[in-house]
Parts: sequence; structure tokens; C-alpha cells
Amino acid sequence: MTDVSIVERSLSASYGAFIDNAFRPISGATFPARNAATGAHLADIARCGAAEIDAAVASAKAAFPGWRAKTPEDRAACLNRLADAVERETPRLMMLDTLDIGRGLWETGIDHAIAAQQYRYFAAAALTHEGWNRPIADGFLIARREPYGVCGQIIPWNVPAIMAAFKIAPAVAAGNTVVLKPDENASLSTLELGKLIAGIFPPGVINIVPGFGDEAGAALTAHPDVAKLAFTGSGEIGRIVSLAGANRLVPVSLELGGKSPNIVFPDIAPAEIDAIVDNVTFASMYCNGQSCLAGTRLFLHDAIYDDFMERLVASMRRIRVADPTNPFPLLGCLVSEKQGRRVQDYIAIGAAQGSLATGGARAEVADCGAGWFFEPTVFETTNDSRIAQEEIFGPVLSVIRWSDTETMIREANGVRYGLAAGLYTNDLKAAWDTAERLEAGNVWINNYFNLAAGSPFGGFKESGIGSEFCHETLNMYTHPKAVTIQTRVKPAWFAPKI
Ligand code: NAI
Ligand code: MG
Repeated sequence: MTDVSIVERSLSASYGAFIDNAFRPISGATFPARNAATGAHLADIARCGAAEIDAAVASAKAAFPGWRAKTPEDRAACLNRLADAVERETPRLMMLDTLDIGRGLWETGIDHAIAAQQYRYFAAAALTHEGWNRPIADGFLIARREPYGVCGQIIPWNVPAIMAAFKIAPAVAAGNTVVLKPDENASLSTLELGKLIAGIFPPGVINIVPGFGDEAGAALTAHPDVAKLAFTGSGEIGRIVSLAGANRLVPVSLELGGKSPNIVFPDIAPAEIDAIVDNVTFASMYCNGQSCLAGTRLFLHDAIYDDFMERLVASMRRIRVADPTNPFPLLGCLVSEKQGRRVQDYIAIGAAQGSLATGGARAEVADCGAGWFFEPTVFETTNDSRIAQEEIFGPVLSVIRWSDTETMIREANGVRYGLAAGLYTNDLKAAWDTAERLEAGNVWINNYFNLAAGSPFGGFKESGIGSEFCHETLNMYTHPKAVTIQTRVKPAWFAPKI
């Protein structure tokens, strides 16, 4: 395992915007990147604004004709080399994310593995993203897909390596160029990715401009030369980005969080419960609950409720809350004080609107005094409570008892979100009927988080617009163009006949 001090020494003291394959000198204000657990200063980052966004968009615009003209094979080769570089650098990058955002090392390692997989998936997909063609009278129709140009992309802090890969890989595979704004709470590993990109991609194809949402982010969404916007984050900011796109009439794709149901059916045998408890624990506590996909509403059938709850509480109490640089599965801290206070407020609301089954308190971890650590927390409640309706983004699970299938399905769908859902049963008919009726972009039967590269990942309802992770994503980053070829010029049908 990589030593903390080696990773800290590998960082630059400060990071300007990454434009044209080089880091710009910092001219204006900066903000600090801090170790989420200890509060230690890691680096200074340029607080970029309209000037840097202008320069980055100009660079991406200039790079577009050359990048677009490259063969899919050439673009795929760059993406595969980036995947190689990410894999080679993973021990350092995963530790860097762990320091910066406080999630356990075993998780940040998975992030970089998924990121590398995304670069490779879209390298392969670039080669098979054909249009279509067919003969027409005296000629031929060719439908091509063409890249938009400069894509403005904005990502959140929870899984920075995955978010950067989700945005960069399909955009550049399809022949676009990119200006990406990382989150102000988690910019470091994305800026370090710039160092890898510089040796692989032509200058200007991928630019990274750090800064705050209402400054660099707003400048990016308003820029007249940005032809496509993509955003992951809160619904509140998703609406703002969407309006910016509407003002400029450019397409916007959005991935905006969830409140996903995880449903356990009554046919489960006692011997099967432990595996499901494990799945449910993972679904709700992975990423410390800071995942848009988290399974945060557990629908537990009355027939198995008591046995399941007992084992679930035991499973939650076995999770070690510890220093995130620990190598073993554990819960680290939340990304920031802002998230910590948000979770604390929701726990207070849960105590008023539900019954606490376990957890519920902030945890102290030695030598990590700045970190917002929480005990894994489970409430028994009803679907109309605020903790069951609102995205908390922390280690808090709401358990809802059910007995009638129709009521359960109505409640499972009874939230504004529709990103994912899990269900556990041996009854094929129940599984299929329920999967069909759940309003969610992903339904996982008997295994939560079952996301293989290539599965469409996107939300129903207020969880978003568009689908990432899959071949279809390339359509989101291209527009179709029909070209027809005739073997001879036909007289037009309305030509006057003398
Ligand atoms: P946020 O939506 O404010 O931030 C996400 C990104 O948007 C960041 O890069 C930020 O700089 C940028 N941004 C903020 N204001 C902007 C603006 N006016 N124009 C352009 N870009 C802007 O999310 P925040 O405040 O960090 O988290 C709040 C809640 O949002 C979380 O508790 C969680 O419920 C949800 N969330 C959902 C995520 C998901 O994966 N869908 C990820 C992160 C947060
Ligand atoms: Mg940090």
C-alpha cells in the first residue's frame, strides 16, 4: 500500500487550470484542498472564473477539428493508454482520493478500477458506433453521427474518479473535446489526471478548470462556444444547468441523485437472510451513503421482518468506523462539514419521525479530529417521513414494513426520484412483475449495485435525463446527420412542364 507521505509529496503545491495540456500559472484567488479526516492542508487550487473558462473553451474549440478528424482507432488508442495510466497510478490516486474526501481505501480503489474500465469500454465502443445506411431510389441514404464540438461537463465530489471517467470517456470517444469542472471539495485526483492526459491526448482535447459552481461552473454553462452540457449533482443545481442550456438551446444531460428502494419479499428462507442483509448493508453504507445509487429505503416484508432486522442491526454494528487510510472495509468520514451537518440534521428529523434501531451518533476517530464520522444508522419509519423521502447522502437507512404488494409498489414508487431499485426473491414472477412496475433506471434482482460497463445508467423522474455507462451514451454526445447520394440529378417534381 502506498504511504500517505509519498502521496502528499507527489502533489504539486498548487494547481492552476489544466488547459492545452499544461497547468496555467495562478493569477487570482485560490482555495485549499484539505484532508477530510485530519483537516491537514494538501494543496492550493486556483479559484477559476470566466477568464480561465474562456481560455479552456478556446483551447477545446481549436482542438476539435483535429480530434474529430482522427479515426476511431486513434481515439480508442488514446483512451486505452489513459486506462493503462490510471491503472498504473491507482495506488497513488486512490490514496489521494481517500485523503481528499475521506472514503475508505478499499472504496477509492474500486473507483479507479471502474474509471479505467470506463475508458476501455468507450475505447471499444468508439469503434462500433456506426450510423446506418440503406438504398433509396437511384441512390443511397447514409445516416452519420457527428460530435457536437466542445462539451461543458460539471461533476460532484462523491466518486471523483468515476465521475470524471463517465464524462470524459464517451465525449472524447465520440470525437468531442471537453472542458470539465471538478467539484471544489474533490478536485485533486482530477487535476492529477491532467498530468496523465498531457502525455497521451493532443493539447486541448481535455481541459480541466477547477473552481466554484457559481463562478467557473456558471461561466461554463453560459459560454457561447459550448455545444453540449452534462452535469451530475443535486437536483437544485441540475435545474440551474438545465435552464442555462435552455437559454442557449444546447442539449443537457443530467444525473441527479436518488432515494432508491431495496425490497425484500416474504419467500426468503432463514438461511438466505444473511446474504441479503450483507447486500442491504452494502447498498446503504457503501460510499458512506454518499452515492446517488444508494439503497436508502429498505422495504421489509412483515413475515420476515423481526429476524431480518435483528441480523441487519448486528451487521451494521460490525462495520468499523475508522481512519479512512485503513486498508480494510470500513466507513470513513463524510466529505465536508457541510455534509456532516446535513446528516446530523436528518438524524434529528429521523429521531422525531421514526424509531432508531441502531447508530444515530457522530463517531470519534483517533487522529482524525476534523472528520465527520457517523455510526451506521438505521431508522424504522414510514414512507411518508422526511428521511424516507429526501436524499440524505449519509450512512442513514430507512426501513419500511410492508405486507400488501400493491401498497408496497405504490410506496416504492412514491418518491420524486427514480434512479435505482433492488429486490430479493426466489419467485420469478414476483421479481419480473415488480421490476416492470418500478419507476427506476436500474432494477437489480438479488444483487445490489450490479452495474457492468454497458448497462444503461440513468434516472427516471427527477433523477435525471440521459443514460451514461453504455453504448447509447455515444448518441447523447453526437447528433445524427442524414446524407443522401443520388447517381443522377433528378428533375424536381414541381419543375414547370412546358
Ligand atoms: P451541487 O449540485 O451543489 O454540486 C455539484 C457540482 O455542481 C459541483 O461541481 C459544483 O461546483 C457545481 N455547481 C454548483 N452550483 C453551480 C452553478 N450555479 N452552475 C454550475 N455548476 C454549479 O451538490 P452539493 O451541494 O455538493 O451536494 C448537495 C446534495 O446534492 C447532496 O447532499 C446530495 O444529496 C446531492 N448530490 C447528488 C450527487 C449525485 O451523484 N447525483 C452528487 C453530489 C451531490
Ligand atoms: Mg478535501
